[in-house]
Amino acid sequence: MKIVRAKDYQDMSRKAANIISAQVILKPECILGLATGSTPMGAYQQLIKWYEKGDVDFSQVSTFNLDEYVGLSDDDPQSYHYFMRKNFFDHVNIDLAKTHVPDGATKDPESFCKNYDRMIAEAGYPDLQLLGIGNNGHIGFNEPDDHFSAGTHCVDLTESTIQANSRLFEKEEDVPRQAYTMGVQTIMYAHMILVAANGEKKAQAVRDMCFGPVTPSCPASILQLHTNCVVVADEAALSLCPAE
Ligand code: F6R
Repeated sequence: MKIVRAKDYQDMSRKAANIISAQVILKPECILGLATGSTPMGAYQQLIKWYEKGDVDFSQVSTFNLDEYVGLSDDDPQSYHYFMRKNFFDHVNIDLAKTHVPDGATKDPESFCKNYDRMIAEAGYPDLQLLGIGNNGHIGFNEPDDHFSAGTHCVDLTESTIQANSRLFEKEEDVPRQAYTMGVQTIMYAHMILVAANGEKKAQAVRDMCFGPVTPSCPASILQLHTNCVVVADEAALSLCPAE
């Protein structure tokens, strides 16, 4: 695990965007695994700026998003489909047909999940998987548990995640209680993993991820076993980690 120190959110975002754009420049037809949430928004904004300057071209890129709330359709403003279009896809020259976000409105969750895994496997797994980390150490929506999950599946969100995500909804009751998420095993198949983290609220999870025991009670800790994982975090998120 390589830790890259950033001064603040802006610096973290630029560094993460630099790594993503290097991936796209080196392999224009690459597969990107993408995340939603507050953490990657600055990186997406930076990538959009570089695209507008002509520095990066997304026309051949394919993407697979980590997760989606159960019950939300693509055009629901709270859905991760909507988030991705509003914050990234609509502003760059990506081919929407090559983007994939789990279908929150599926009527057949079991075959949907199997099919999502099959598509990711057939694509050859993400060249780069971007991750944020939950305050409780979750990656995707793989919540602390007594085992690591395998493929894409439906999860019950924990109270801490519901509370953390309620800031994006009008009221806490509106936060869906379930989500579809790529499993931990699928995430680990990515050829490179880039975790971004900022802010004091993430400090304990970042410490547990990088320096704690590898345990499903902190799902992100399994990333210690990945051979090519980079953590880009700001000073506040690294504040509980040993200095160098
Ligand atoms: C989002 C995702 C989640 C978030 C995590 C951190 O697609 O998979 O694991 O990355 O909950 O969320 P933020 O960035 O909002 O703090």
